[in-house]
Amino acid sequence: MKRILVATDGSVLSGKALAKAIELARQFDARLTIVNVMDVVPVGQSLRRFVAAELPATTLQPVPLSLLNSYGISSVDSVEALDSQSRAVAQLVSDRILANAQATAEAAGIKGVDTVSAAGDPAREIVAAVKAAGADLVVVGRRGLGGLNELVLGSVSQKVLHHAAADVMVVA
Ligand SMILES: Nc1ncnc2c1ncn2[C@@H]1O[C@H](COP(=O)(O)OP(=O)(O)O)[C@@H](O)[C@H]1O
Ligand SMILES: [Mg+2]
Repeated sequence: MKRILVATDGSVLSGKALAKAIELARQFDARLTIVNVMDVVPVGQSLRRFVAAELPATTLQPVPLSLLNSYGISSVDSVEALDSQSRAVAQLVSDRILANAQATAEAAGIKGVDTVSAAGDPAREIVAAVKAAGADLVVVGRRGLGGLNELVLGSVSQKVLHHAAADVMVVA
């Protein structure tokens, strides 16, 4: 086993996945890639569709500024600004999650720790990162930040299990 990839959303269970990945990387003298995927939908994106003059996907009239104002939005510009701010916040959080996980791995003596911050559908991006890193094993938590207790497996761990081109370990 040469390279282990661990996916973390910053949740407690993904922390257990990280601990397991560190333990295995140590035992196999493997390299470690830590991945976090930002799955934030830009808040202004849907609104911008309705504000635009062309509305191919709807029969609604364009949203007038007065209506935006009554919802506390000062202008179309602020809709755009909201998007770039939400992206920046997501990046900040992703960077913090990754820096924290990297520091934990390095403190445990793992050499050659890489981090990947991606954006989009988490499972799809994790599967792509497994391929790009050429990982032999991908480690995920059984559940993450979602908190739908009736599910035994979260949807991300489930999709990674089905689609990753590597061995998959789901940490309980
Ligand atoms: N955005 C993400 N970035 C990286 N890893 C993730 C992300 N979301 C989930 N994971 C991985 O998948 C595991 C299971 O999470 P998930 O399937 O989303 O369950 P839940 O529905 O409880 O959030 C997490 O412990 C983590 O290892
Ligand atoms: Mg989740």
